[in-house]
Amino acid sequence: MHSKDYFDRVADQWDSLQASFYSEKVRDRALATAAVRSGATAADIGCGSGFITEGLIRAGLRVIAVDQSEVMLTAMKRKFAGIAGVDYRCGEGEQLPIADDAVDYVFANMYLHHLEKPPIAIKEMARIVKPGGILVITDLDSHTFEFLRDEHRDRWLGFDRRDIRQWFREAGLGRVTVDCVGEQCCAQSDTGDESASVDIFVASGEK
Ligand SMILES: C[S@@+](CC[C@H](N)C(=O)[O-])C[C@H]1O[C@@H](n2cnc3c(N)ncnc32)[C@H](O)[C@@H]1O
Repeated sequence: MHSKDYFDRVADQWDSLQASFYSEKVRDRALATAAVRSGATAADIGCGSGFITEGLIRAGLRVIAVDQSEVMLTAMKRKFAGIAGVDYRCGEGEQLPIADDAVDYVFANMYLHHLEKPPIAIKEMARIVKPGGILVITDLDSHTFEFLRDEHRDRWLGFDRRDIRQWFREAGLGRVTVDCVGEQCCAQSDTGDESASVDIFVASGEK
């Protein structure tokens, strides 16, 4: 099953699944790393049902929320009905439906490990940030839990932080940092035989 089919299928349960995997600490850390300013514009790539967007709206930003799954975006629209400041766009990570130099910040939480070519996706996210703007990615450190490939459609079993640093630099970003969030992503296999607990990193770079 392609990851889009998987996320279409779980869209209506994503809020509770997400809460069982990781907490709001991940979002708080991502927003703090970028030191977001009220009134600015951010993109939330692989937005799912709006975990990162929710924090950005609360902090007074406008958000362009992008996901490959129209079903996920529909669930998100339902959740944020009546809330202004969110522009929903269905699109693919390697060709984002956003102009060059358009936003002050780009966030991508638990998105990168679903992609075929993460370095291309990082370049594409760097493309849409204004000069002086910041890209923040929160994702999993390297791990060995194969069941996440089959059951959650993960393509990458996390990342080596050295690769993340290199990909940010190759995308033309400076002041690159990769740090621990101080929290694990936790998941139980469907059979109940295995449980994963994987450290989460926060990476940032400035264009
Ligand atoms: C694990 S979920 C994370 C959702 C959200 N960021 C969160 O923290 O709850 C990954 C999301 O990325 C989206 N996604 C995966 N591959 C994508 C791609 N190639 N282009 C756009 N979105 C993609 C999925 O549809 C899904 O909504």
